[in-house]
Amino acid sequence: MNLNHINYPTPFLLVDLDKVRQKYRRLRAALPGVEIFYAMKPNPESRIITALLDEGCGVEVASQAELCQVLSLGARPSQIITSNPVKSPPFLRTLHTHGVQRMAFDSPVEVDKIAQHTPGSQVYLRLRTDNTGAEWPLSDKFGVDAAEAPELLYYAASKGLTPIGLTFHVGSQCLNPHNWAIALQTCAQVMEQVADDLPIEVINLGGGLPVPYGRAIPTLSEITDTINEARHTLFTDQVRFQIEPGRFLVGDTAVLVTSVIGKARRSNTDWLYLDVGIYNGLFDTIEQFAYELGFDVEHGRAQAHFTIAGPSCDSMDKLFTGHPIPDLQVGERLYVRNAGAYTTAIAGHFNGFPPPTVIYSDDFEHSMKF
Ligand SMILES: Cc1ncc(COP(=O)(O)O)c(C=O)c1O
Repeated sequence: MNLNHINYPTPFLLVDLDKVRQKYRRLRAALPGVEIFYAMKPNPESRIITALLDEGCGVEVASQAELCQVLSLGARPSQIITSNPVKSPPFLRTLHTHGVQRMAFDSPVEVDKIAQHTPGSQVYLRLRTDNTGAEWPLSDKFGVDAAEAPELLYYAASKGLTPIGLTFHVGSQCLNPHNWAIALQTCAQVMEQVADDLPIEVINLGGGLPVPYGRAIPTLSEITDTINEARHTLFTDQVRFQIEPGRFLVGDTAVLVTSVIGKARRSNTDWLYLDVGIYNGLFDTIEQFAYELGFDVEHGRAQAHFTIAGPSCDSMDKLFTGHPIPDLQVGERLYVRNAGAYTTAIAGHFNGFPPPTVIYSDDFEHSMKF
Protein backbone atom coordinates (compact mmCIF):
# COMPACT_ATOMS: atom_id res chain seq x y z
CA MET A 1 0.00 0.00 0.00
CA ASN A 2 1.42 3.38 -0.88
CA LEU A 3 -0.61 6.33 0.22
CA ASN A 4 2.29 8.32 1.62
CA HIS A 5 1.73 11.11 -0.89
CA ILE A 6 -1.67 11.82 0.67
CA ASN A 7 -0.51 14.41 3.07
CA TYR A 8 -3.75 14.68 4.96
CA PRO A 9 -4.20 14.64 8.73
CA THR A 10 -5.37 11.30 10.11
CA PRO A 11 -7.77 9.79 10.72
CA PHE A 12 -9.36 9.84 7.28
CA LEU A 13 -11.41 7.49 5.13
CA LEU A 14 -10.33 7.46 1.50
CA VAL A 15 -13.24 6.42 -0.74
CA ASP A 16 -12.95 5.23 -4.35
CA LEU A 17 -16.23 6.15 -6.06
CA ASP A 18 -15.32 4.15 -9.18
CA LYS A 19 -15.23 1.05 -7.04
CA VAL A 20 -18.68 1.89 -5.65
CA ARG A 21 -20.01 2.07 -9.21
CA GLN A 22 -18.26 -1.18 -10.14
CA LYS A 23 -19.78 -2.97 -7.16
CA TYR A 24 -23.25 -1.83 -8.20
CA ARG A 25 -22.70 -3.00 -11.79
CA ARG A 26 -21.41 -6.39 -10.64
CA LEU A 27 -24.45 -6.94 -8.48
CA ARG A 28 -26.85 -5.82 -11.21
CA ALA A 29 -25.25 -8.30 -13.63
CA ALA A 30 -25.35 -11.12 -11.07
CA LEU A 31 -29.05 -10.63 -10.24
CA PRO A 32 -30.79 -9.90 -13.54
CA GLY A 33 -34.15 -8.23 -13.17
CA VAL A 34 -33.70 -7.51 -9.45
CA GLU A 35 -34.26 -3.88 -8.44
CA ILE A 36 -31.40 -2.64 -6.27
CA PHE A 37 -31.82 -0.13 -3.44
CA TYR A 38 -28.72 1.05 -1.57
CA ALA A 39 -29.39 0.67 2.17
CA MET A 40 -27.55 3.89 2.92
CA LYS A 41 -26.93 3.29 6.64
CA PRO A 42 -23.37 1.90 6.29
CA ASN A 43 -22.17 5.02 4.55
CA PRO A 44 -24.52 7.96 3.98
CA GLU A 45 -21.96 10.15 2.20
CA SER A 46 -23.80 12.25 -0.38
CA ARG A 47 -21.22 11.64 -3.11
CA ILE A 48 -21.68 7.88 -2.73
CA ILE A 49 -25.45 8.20 -2.91
CA THR A 50 -25.26 10.51 -5.92
CA ALA A 51 -22.93 8.10 -7.75
CA LEU A 52 -25.34 5.23 -7.13
CA LEU A 53 -28.42 7.26 -8.12
CA ASP A 54 -26.60 8.14 -11.36
CA GLU A 55 -26.13 4.42 -11.99
CA GLY A 56 -29.89 3.87 -11.65
CA CYS A 57 -29.80 2.48 -8.12
CA GLY A 58 -32.59 3.26 -5.65
CA VAL A 59 -32.12 4.03 -1.95
CA GLU A 60 -33.43 2.37 1.19
CA VAL A 61 -33.81 4.89 4.02
CA ALA A 62 -34.26 4.11 7.70
CA SER A 63 -35.07 7.52 9.14
CA GLN A 64 -36.45 10.96 8.45
CA ALA A 65 -32.94 12.42 8.18
CA GLU A 66 -31.91 9.83 5.59
CA LEU A 67 -35.12 10.48 3.65
CA CYS A 68 -34.58 14.26 3.60
CA GLN A 69 -30.97 13.78 2.53
CA VAL A 70 -31.78 11.57 -0.47
CA LEU A 71 -34.64 13.85 -1.52
CA SER A 72 -32.25 16.80 -1.40
CA LEU A 73 -29.91 14.83 -3.67
CA GLY A 74 -32.66 14.57 -6.27
CA ALA A 75 -33.97 11.04 -5.65
CA ARG A 76 -37.52 10.61 -6.87
CA PRO A 77 -40.07 9.09 -4.43
CA SER A 78 -40.31 6.04 -6.71
CA GLN A 79 -36.58 5.41 -6.13
CA ILE A 80 -37.01 5.30 -2.35
CA ILE A 81 -38.22 2.57 0.00
CA THR A 82 -37.96 2.18 3.74
CA SER A 83 -37.49 -1.24 5.28
CA ASN A 84 -37.22 -0.09 8.87
CA PRO A 85 -40.14 -1.95 10.47
CA VAL A 86 -40.51 0.62 13.26
CA LYS A 87 -40.95 4.19 12.03
CA SER A 88 -41.71 7.27 14.09
CA PRO A 89 -44.94 9.19 13.32
CA PRO A 90 -43.00 12.27 12.06
CA PHE A 91 -40.96 10.05 9.71
CA LEU A 92 -44.18 8.45 8.43
CA ARG A 93 -45.76 11.86 7.84
CA THR A 94 -42.69 13.02 5.91
CA LEU A 95 -42.83 9.87 3.78
CA HIS A 96 -46.47 10.66 3.06
CA THR A 97 -45.80 14.32 2.25
CA HIS A 98 -43.21 13.29 -0.34
CA GLY A 99 -45.20 10.42 -1.81
CA VAL A 100 -42.89 7.58 -0.70
CA GLN A 101 -45.31 4.70 -0.57
CA ARG A 102 -43.34 1.48 -0.12
CA MET A 103 -42.44 0.51 3.43
CA ALA A 104 -41.92 -2.46 5.75
CA PHE A 105 -43.88 -3.44 8.83
CA ASP A 106 -43.82 -6.30 11.34
CA SER A 107 -46.46 -5.59 13.99
CA PRO A 108 -50.11 -4.54 14.35
CA VAL A 109 -48.99 -1.32 16.03
CA GLU A 110 -46.92 -0.42 12.96
CA VAL A 111 -49.92 -1.15 10.72
CA ASP A 112 -52.02 1.24 12.79
CA LYS A 113 -49.36 3.96 12.59
CA ILE A 114 -48.90 3.54 8.84
CA ALA A 115 -52.67 3.57 8.28
CA GLN A 116 -52.96 6.79 10.30
CA HIS A 117 -49.97 8.72 8.94
CA THR A 118 -49.37 7.30 5.46
CA PRO A 119 -52.80 5.92 4.47
CA GLY A 120 -52.96 3.72 1.40
CA SER A 121 -49.27 2.75 1.55
CA GLN A 122 -47.86 -0.33 -0.14
CA VAL A 123 -46.45 -2.43 2.65
CA TYR A 124 -44.19 -5.46 2.87
CA LEU A 125 -43.92 -7.71 5.90
CA ARG A 126 -40.57 -8.43 7.54
CA LEU A 127 -40.19 -12.14 8.31
CA ARG A 128 -37.81 -13.50 10.90
CA THR A 129 -35.36 -15.84 9.18
CA ASP A 130 -32.27 -17.82 10.04
CA ASN A 131 -29.15 -15.68 10.61
CA THR A 132 -26.76 -18.57 11.26
CA GLY A 133 -23.37 -17.78 9.79
CA ALA A 134 -23.86 -14.02 9.72
CA GLU A 135 -21.10 -12.13 11.51
CA TRP A 136 -23.57 -9.45 12.60
CA PRO A 137 -26.90 -11.27 13.29
CA LEU A 138 -30.07 -9.16 13.07
CA SER A 139 -32.83 -11.69 13.60
CA ASP A 140 -34.08 -11.11 17.12
CA LYS A 141 -34.97 -7.42 16.99
CA PHE A 142 -37.28 -7.42 13.97
CA GLY A 143 -39.47 -9.75 11.98
CA VAL A 144 -42.35 -12.16 12.58
CA ASP A 145 -42.44 -15.93 12.33
CA ALA A 146 -44.02 -17.31 9.20
CA ALA A 147 -46.94 -18.67 11.26
CA GLU A 148 -47.95 -15.14 12.29
CA ALA A 149 -47.54 -13.66 8.82
CA PRO A 150 -50.94 -14.31 7.20
CA GLU A 151 -52.87 -12.71 10.05
CA LEU A 152 -50.69 -9.58 9.93
CA LEU A 153 -50.99 -9.30 6.15
CA TYR A 154 -54.80 -9.55 6.42
CA TYR A 155 -54.77 -6.99 9.21
CA ALA A 156 -52.82 -4.56 7.02
CA ALA A 157 -55.33 -5.04 4.19
CA SER A 158 -58.23 -4.47 6.61
CA LYS A 159 -56.71 -1.09 7.49
CA GLY A 160 -56.69 0.08 3.89
CA LEU A 161 -53.02 -0.68 3.20
CA THR A 162 -51.89 -2.70 0.19
CA PRO A 163 -49.75 -5.65 1.28
CA ILE A 164 -47.45 -6.03 -1.70
CA GLY A 165 -44.67 -8.18 -0.40
CA LEU A 166 -42.37 -9.85 2.05
CA THR A 167 -38.87 -9.07 3.23
CA PHE A 168 -36.22 -10.52 5.50
CA HIS A 169 -32.61 -9.95 6.53
CA VAL A 170 -30.22 -12.92 6.62
CA GLY A 171 -27.85 -11.04 8.93
CA SER A 172 -25.15 -8.55 8.03
CA GLN A 173 -21.84 -9.89 6.65
CA CYS A 174 -23.63 -13.19 6.00
CA LEU A 175 -21.18 -15.95 5.12
CA ASN A 176 -23.85 -18.60 4.65
CA PRO A 177 -25.55 -18.53 1.20
CA HIS A 178 -28.04 -21.12 2.42
CA ASN A 179 -29.74 -18.45 4.58
CA TRP A 180 -31.13 -16.79 1.43
CA ALA A 181 -32.48 -20.14 0.16
CA ILE A 182 -34.21 -20.89 3.47
CA ALA A 183 -35.65 -17.37 3.65
CA LEU A 184 -37.02 -17.63 0.11
CA GLN A 185 -38.65 -20.97 0.95
CA THR A 186 -40.32 -19.30 3.92
CA CYS A 187 -41.55 -16.48 1.67
CA ALA A 188 -42.98 -19.05 -0.79
CA GLN A 189 -44.87 -20.78 2.03
CA VAL A 190 -46.38 -17.53 3.30
CA MET A 191 -47.38 -16.49 -0.23
CA GLU A 192 -49.06 -19.84 -0.77
CA GLN A 193 -51.10 -19.45 2.42
CA VAL A 194 -52.57 -16.09 1.42
CA ALA A 195 -52.61 -16.62 -2.36
CA ASP A 196 -56.42 -16.80 -2.65
CA ASP A 197 -56.94 -13.38 -1.09
CA LEU A 198 -53.76 -11.33 -1.39
CA PRO A 199 -51.57 -11.14 -4.46
CA ILE A 200 -48.11 -10.85 -2.88
CA GLU A 201 -45.86 -9.90 -5.77
CA VAL A 202 -42.70 -8.39 -4.30
CA ILE A 203 -39.91 -10.08 -2.41
CA ASN A 204 -37.23 -7.88 -0.94
CA LEU A 205 -34.05 -9.90 -0.39
CA GLY A 206 -32.75 -7.51 2.26
CA GLY A 207 -29.05 -6.92 2.89
CA GLY A 208 -26.30 -9.17 4.20
CA LEU A 209 -23.97 -9.58 1.20
CA PRO A 210 -20.46 -9.78 2.66
CA VAL A 211 -17.19 -8.06 1.82
CA PRO A 212 -13.71 -9.46 2.49
CA TYR A 213 -12.22 -8.65 5.85
CA GLY A 214 -9.60 -10.96 7.34
CA ARG A 215 -11.29 -14.28 6.66
CA ALA A 216 -12.69 -16.19 3.68
CA ILE A 217 -16.13 -15.26 2.41
CA PRO A 218 -18.38 -16.88 -0.21
CA THR A 219 -18.02 -15.40 -3.69
CA LEU A 220 -20.77 -13.14 -4.98
CA SER A 221 -21.79 -15.80 -7.51
CA GLU A 222 -22.06 -18.48 -4.81
CA ILE A 223 -24.69 -16.31 -3.16
CA THR A 224 -26.43 -14.99 -6.26
CA ASP A 225 -26.57 -18.46 -7.88
CA THR A 226 -28.34 -19.69 -4.76
CA ILE A 227 -30.76 -16.77 -4.91
CA ASN A 228 -31.37 -17.10 -8.65
CA GLU A 229 -32.03 -20.82 -8.40
CA ALA A 230 -34.55 -20.30 -5.59
CA ARG A 231 -36.19 -17.46 -7.53
CA HIS A 232 -36.70 -19.64 -10.54
CA THR A 233 -37.82 -22.79 -8.77
CA LEU A 234 -40.09 -21.32 -6.10
CA PHE A 235 -41.81 -18.36 -7.76
CA THR A 236 -43.75 -17.47 -10.88
CA ASP A 237 -42.67 -14.73 -13.29
CA GLN A 238 -45.26 -12.44 -11.68
CA VAL A 239 -43.07 -12.08 -8.60
CA ARG A 240 -40.71 -9.09 -8.66
CA PHE A 241 -37.53 -9.03 -6.60
CA GLN A 242 -35.70 -6.24 -4.84
CA ILE A 243 -32.47 -6.26 -2.86
CA GLU A 244 -31.15 -3.62 -0.47
CA PRO A 245 -27.44 -4.16 0.09
CA GLY A 246 -25.53 -1.82 2.33
CA ARG A 247 -22.11 -3.19 3.23
CA PHE A 248 -21.61 -4.89 -0.16
CA LEU A 249 -21.80 -1.66 -2.16
CA VAL A 250 -19.39 0.34 -0.01
CA GLY A 251 -17.41 -1.91 2.36
CA ASP A 252 -14.44 -2.66 0.12
CA THR A 253 -14.39 0.71 -1.62
CA ALA A 254 -12.52 2.62 1.08
CA VAL A 255 -9.46 2.49 3.29
CA LEU A 256 -9.25 4.02 6.74
CA VAL A 257 -5.95 5.74 7.40
CA THR A 258 -4.97 6.11 11.04
CA SER A 259 -1.80 7.04 12.96
CA VAL A 260 -0.02 5.52 15.91
CA ILE A 261 -0.33 7.96 18.82
CA GLY A 262 1.24 5.90 21.60
CA LYS A 263 2.96 2.69 22.67
CA ALA A 264 3.37 0.96 26.02
CA ARG A 265 4.41 -2.33 27.54
CA ARG A 266 2.16 -3.49 30.41
CA SER A 267 2.16 -6.92 32.08
CA ASN A 268 4.08 -8.53 29.24
CA THR A 269 1.73 -7.09 26.63
CA ASP A 270 2.79 -4.58 24.00
CA TRP A 271 0.13 -1.97 23.37
CA LEU A 272 -0.22 0.24 20.33
CA TYR A 273 -2.64 3.16 20.47
CA LEU A 274 -4.25 4.60 17.32
CA ASP A 275 -6.15 7.81 16.64
CA VAL A 276 -9.18 5.67 15.72
CA GLY A 277 -11.02 3.31 18.04
CA ILE A 278 -14.40 1.69 18.46
CA TYR A 279 -16.10 4.99 19.24
CA ASN A 280 -14.74 7.09 16.39
CA GLY A 281 -14.61 4.72 13.43
CA LEU A 282 -14.13 1.01 14.07
CA PHE A 283 -17.34 0.03 15.82
CA ASP A 284 -17.62 -3.38 14.13
CA THR A 285 -14.50 -4.54 15.99
CA ILE A 286 -16.76 -5.09 19.02
CA GLU A 287 -17.94 -8.18 17.11
CA GLN A 288 -14.30 -9.14 16.43
CA PHE A 289 -14.41 -8.03 12.81
CA ALA A 290 -10.89 -8.93 11.69
CA TYR A 291 -10.12 -6.08 9.33
CA GLU A 292 -7.02 -6.55 7.23
CA LEU A 293 -4.29 -4.07 8.11
CA GLY A 294 -1.73 -2.44 5.83
CA PHE A 295 1.46 -0.44 6.41
CA ASP A 296 3.91 1.77 4.57
CA VAL A 297 7.13 0.55 6.15
CA GLU A 298 10.46 -0.52 4.73
CA HIS A 299 11.05 -4.23 4.04
CA GLY A 300 12.57 -6.14 6.90
CA ARG A 301 11.09 -4.04 9.71
CA ALA A 302 10.88 -6.21 12.86
CA GLN A 303 7.47 -7.66 13.63
CA ALA A 304 5.71 -7.38 16.98
CA HIS A 305 2.54 -8.75 18.57
CA PHE A 306 0.54 -5.75 19.72
CA THR A 307 -2.78 -5.29 21.39
CA ILE A 308 -4.07 -2.45 19.24
CA ALA A 309 -6.38 0.03 20.97
CA GLY A 310 -8.27 3.22 20.22
CA PRO A 311 -7.53 6.63 21.72
CA SER A 312 -10.39 6.94 24.22
CA CYS A 313 -10.10 6.45 27.96
CA ASP A 314 -12.49 3.51 27.91
CA SER A 315 -10.89 0.11 28.49
CA MET A 316 -13.42 -1.45 26.09
CA ASP A 317 -11.79 0.52 23.30
CA LYS A 318 -9.59 -2.33 22.05
CA LEU A 319 -9.50 -3.22 18.38
CA PHE A 320 -7.23 -6.10 17.49
CA THR A 321 -5.06 -8.55 19.38
CA GLY A 322 -2.64 -11.18 18.45
CA HIS A 323 -1.53 -10.73 14.89
CA PRO A 324 2.06 -9.79 14.18
CA ILE A 325 2.50 -6.42 12.54
CA PRO A 326 5.57 -4.29 11.84
CA ASP A 327 6.92 -2.59 14.94
CA LEU A 328 5.33 0.80 14.18
CA GLN A 329 6.50 3.98 15.85
CA VAL A 330 4.49 6.98 17.06
CA GLY A 331 3.48 9.08 14.05
CA GLU A 332 3.56 6.18 11.57
CA ARG A 333 0.39 5.27 9.74
CA LEU A 334 -1.63 2.09 9.70
CA TYR A 335 -4.26 1.30 7.05
CA VAL A 336 -7.48 -0.51 7.78
CA ARG A 337 -8.58 -2.03 4.49
CA ASN A 338 -12.18 -2.39 3.37
CA ALA A 339 -13.43 0.05 5.97
CA GLY A 340 -16.14 1.75 3.89
CA ALA A 341 -19.14 0.34 5.78
CA TYR A 342 -20.41 1.08 9.29
CA THR A 343 -17.30 3.08 10.22
CA THR A 344 -17.69 6.84 9.75
CA ALA A 345 -21.48 6.32 9.69
CA ILE A 346 -21.46 5.13 13.30
CA ALA A 347 -18.51 7.11 14.61
CA GLY A 348 -19.08 9.68 17.34
CA HIS A 349 -16.97 12.25 19.16
CA PHE A 350 -16.56 10.43 22.51
CA ASN A 351 -13.72 11.96 24.55
CA GLY A 352 -13.29 14.58 21.85
CA PHE A 353 -11.67 12.22 19.35
CA PRO A 354 -13.08 13.12 15.92
CA PRO A 355 -14.45 10.65 13.39
CA PRO A 356 -12.31 10.20 10.27
CA THR A 357 -12.73 12.87 7.60
CA VAL A 358 -14.08 11.38 4.38
CA ILE A 359 -12.03 12.17 1.27
CA TYR A 360 -12.24 10.83 -2.27
CA SER A 361 -9.51 9.35 -4.47
CA ASP A 362 -11.09 11.20 -7.46
CA ASP A 363 -9.88 14.46 -5.91
CA PHE A 364 -6.20 13.52 -6.11
CA GLU A 365 -4.14 13.77 -9.26
CA HIS A 366 -2.49 10.35 -9.03
CA SER A 367 -4.77 7.40 -9.18
CA MET A 368 -4.38 5.33 -6.05
CA LYS A 369 -4.74 1.62 -5.66
CA PHE A 370 -5.61 0.31 -2.26
C1 LIG B 1 -33.64 -3.31 6.83
C2 LIG B 1 -32.21 -3.37 6.42
N1 LIG B 1 -31.90 -3.47 5.12
C3 LIG B 1 -30.62 -3.52 4.69
C4 LIG B 1 -29.58 -3.43 5.58
C5 LIG B 1 -28.17 -3.46 5.07
O1 LIG B 1 -27.55 -4.62 5.50
P1 LIG B 1 -26.07 -4.96 5.00
O2 LIG B 1 -25.22 -3.80 5.28
O3 LIG B 1 -25.72 -6.18 5.77
O4 LIG B 1 -26.16 -5.25 3.52
C6 LIG B 1 -29.84 -3.35 6.97
C7 LIG B 1 -28.76 -3.30 7.95
O5 LIG B 1 -28.93 -3.21 9.12
C8 LIG B 1 -31.20 -3.31 7.39
O6 LIG B 1 -31.51 -3.21 8.69
